[in-house]
Amino acid sequence: MSRIYEALQRADLERRAAQELGVEQPGEPVSGPDLEEPLAAKPFVVLENIAQHPWRPKIASLPTLADRGAGVEQFRSLRSRIYQARYEAPLKTILISSGMPSEGKTFVTANLAMNLARNSMNNILLIDGDLRRPTLHNLLGAPNAPGLSEYLAGTADLNSIMQRDGVSKTAGTAPAASASNLTLIPAGNCGDNSSELVANRRIEDLVATLSAHFDWILIDSPPVLAVTDAVDLARAADAVLLVVRGGRTPFDVAQRTQASFSNSRVLGFVLNDVKDPPRTGSYYYYNYYGGPEASAGSKDRKESRAKA
Ligand SMILES: Nc1ncnc2c1ncn2[C@@H]1O[C@H](COP(=O)(O)OP(=O)(O)OP(=O)(O)O)[C@@H](O)[C@H]1O
Ligand SMILES: [Mg+2]
Repeated sequence: MSRIYEALQRADLERRAAQELGVEQPGEPVSGPDLEEPLAAKPFVVLENIAQHPWRPKIASLPTLADRGAGVEQFRSLRSRIYQARYEAPLKTILISSGMPSEGKTFVTANLAMNLARNSMNNILLIDGDLRRPTLHNLLGAPNAPGLSEYLAGTADLNSIMQRDGVSKTAGTAPAASASNLTLIPAGNCGDNSSELVANRRIEDLVATLSAHFDWILIDSPPVLAVTDAVDLARAADAVLLVVRGGRTPFDVAQRTQASFSNSRVLGFVLNDVKDPPRTGSYYYYNYYGGPEASAGSKDRKESRAKA
């Protein structure tokens, strides 16, 4: 990160703080003949300028859009576990991952983000880090490009890849205002070089830049046992939240998945889509496996939960 860029960031933060206090700031944040790079190339973030698109969320895949119900309750429970984890160590950026395809990573990411957004004034950022098979935008009914791929490839600037919900036009959907504090960076179109894009460390700079502007950053990812992108993405995150699917994820897959993130802080597992749940509903958060709240419970009990 160049000193000029850091100066721009600092000046922007100071300008924003001054604006909030009602103090007038003369002129632009930073100017002068000694700029090293063209201003357009700087990731100079202005949340108010984020493009608005009329999202058309898929209600069936977003139970948290309802006012009440099992989905709302279970994601509220997951949310409160996430809040608790923040007391244990700083936590803002969470990578959501799993070992295999279709375990519910995108489902959990989108619903957790929506739940966080709808129940606080926090600024929530959703990043689709699954550059190979992006689907996060589909759940929100949002355009997929330009997105992370274009940014990492250097063909789009940061402000152009962020979007928010504009006016929701779908009858029966929750009002757009319910997610006005939710920002999406879709995956974009990357072709077949996603590994190179996520490994080039620009993603870490991107998250570091955006951290100053958001309270929570959730990153969706591809299955870690299939491709290593998620491990690269995890370097940009404070922690990893893993998903296993009830009745589908074998215990050894869950074990190998956690082992893949041995260099990261693993918050725990979401046991998703349980058909015969021990409590009402289908989405559970268990820290039963290696997380900070893990007990020394028996392997049998752990197995039965992973296979529930
Ligand atoms: N708890 C659930 N209840 C109902 N449907 C679910 C649930 N979890 C996931 N699904 C559905 O299962 C399918 C796969 O989920 P999702 O796309 O979230 O998985 P994924 O882990 O992101 O897959 P991939 O690895 O391919 O990205 C989707 O159609 C999703 O809507
Ligand atoms: Mg997915």
